[in-house]
Amino acid sequence: MELDLHLKLTGFLLVASTFFFLFFVVRSKSKLKLKTKPSINLPPGPTPLPLIGNLHQLGEHPHLSLHRLSGTYGPIFHLKLGFIPTVIISSAKLAREVMCTHDLALASRPQLQSARSLFYGCTDIAFAPYGPYWRHVRKICILELLSQRRVDLFAPVRATEARCMVSRIASATAEGKEINLSKILGLYANGVLGRAAFGKDFYGAGEYDRHGFQEMLEEYQVLLGGFSIGDFFPGMEWVGAFTRANARIEKTFRRFDNFFDEIIEEHIQKRRKGKAQEEGKDLVDVLLDVKGSEGLEMPLTMDNVKAIILDMFAAGTDTTFITLDWGMTELLMNPKALKQVQIEVRRVVGEKKFVSESDLCYMPYLKATIKEIFRLHPPAPVLVPRESMEPVIIDGYDIPAKTRIYINAWAIGRDLELWNDPEGFKPERFLDSPIDYKGQHYELIPFGAGRRSCPAISFGTASVELALAQLLNSFDWELPPGVAPQDLDLTEVFGITMHRRQHLFVVAKPH
Ligand code: HEM
Repeated sequence: MELDLHLKLTGFLLVASTFFFLFFVVRSKSKLKLKTKPSINLPPGPTPLPLIGNLHQLGEHPHLSLHRLSGTYGPIFHLKLGFIPTVIISSAKLAREVMCTHDLALASRPQLQSARSLFYGCTDIAFAPYGPYWRHVRKICILELLSQRRVDLFAPVRATEARCMVSRIASATAEGKEINLSKILGLYANGVLGRAAFGKDFYGAGEYDRHGFQEMLEEYQVLLGGFSIGDFFPGMEWVGAFTRANARIEKTFRRFDNFFDEIIEEHIQKRRKGKAQEEGKDLVDVLLDVKGSEGLEMPLTMDNVKAIILDMFAAGTDTTFITLDWGMTELLMNPKALKQVQIEVRRVVGEKKFVSESDLCYMPYLKATIKEIFRLHPPAPVLVPRESMEPVIIDGYDIPAKTRIYINAWAIGRDLELWNDPEGFKPERFLDSPIDYKGQHYELIPFGAGRRSCPAISFGTASVELALAQLLNSFDWELPPGVAPQDLDLTEVFGITMHRRQHLFVVAKPH
């Protein structure tokens, strides 16, 4: 991706330099007459280069580069990314300033070019700018789509998918070889969301392959997290036409759009035959109910419905998969923790073959393990960017309106001032600790916090806890013969969410 980024930058520089030469010649004449602005006290930061600013300093893994820069410039620093003034926050104390003290002033999202094109003009929830529309759809999301009641109604969905996961592992293991666990965890995460959102067995019905759904989702993650000229040089989106970025975005959008048309049409046909019972409703049913309800102060269009479905899918599958994949990787690298959590799970589950959700509240070590996974590997390492709507002061520095703000949750999870031996995987650190990830403790923020925090903490946690407990209950786990923990390639692929580059291959022995 670094090479790709440099090629794009070079291409962009060539096209843009002519434009800027003319622009600066004209501008420099008139500028002589302009008054200088009063100086503002921006946070410290490295000197930007002309035009690209500090973009060249992001590298292949922005969360790592930003972490290194925070070592030089401190927990709040300033970068110019292309034309965009950007502030990076790397401490729990300042994360609280952003997501609590100044939560409202900083509650908007930048209008990323990729998000505008993929999410029907940012009419989803995650990328909608702060305002009446976002408040409206977030309310629908919290009250209707992801309420605790709805999460409870989806318990059978999770149970079915956990059973499918066990039988996939058992049949792959029957061949006596090591198995690609990452692939099976990905199917579980997609399966839960597929059944919850569309009400059907997505994989078994062949939809998964027919639409190339995994490929669509992967492309989407890369497009949103990757380098898109228009995201850093607003007004110059046309340059994307020269780098094929626009064509890639358009192609992915069309594939999702056609797919959603098909799904919605199926639901409309099904609804004509009779209304689904509340328990049997999937997320598309709920959204079509909301769309059809009379007297909505802000009626939803079909494009709004599609944008919200895409949000659920895109925000919910990769995050669940990444947590489970890193979780099993860390446990295999830390056999003591693996043994301890497995003993707890098996003691609670007893003779039963399958874990029930009601068992989970008796598993404090499992819950501590999941916190430790989130601390070291937050699936969205720099959260989703926010944008200031008005000037604020943080830590004595001026943050002007329209500044993009990244919170490096990955760096906060490894802050030496907050955590003892931060690189070590030690679930016990959470056993007698009040620290939780629900948005009150800024040292652990895998779901963000404040107005823009993830509305699906219960949904996400329920899917992760059940799957991890089931994996530990049903199988004994080992790395393949000849592979030592230090041989695992832990490199990550950067996108809006971040998974490991290599799949996890393991030996599973049925228990
Ligand atoms: C392990 C699971 C998950 C993790 C770690 C996670 C993490 C996050 C994070 C970090 C954000 C941005 C927070 C911020 O900007 O402060 C977010 C936002 C969001 N998430 Fe999740 N998420 C998970 C599961 C889900 C699921 C299952 C869904 C839906 C079915 C979902 C839907 C959303 C939506 C709609 C937003 C945007 C909220 C807004 O901007 O108002 N997430 N999530």
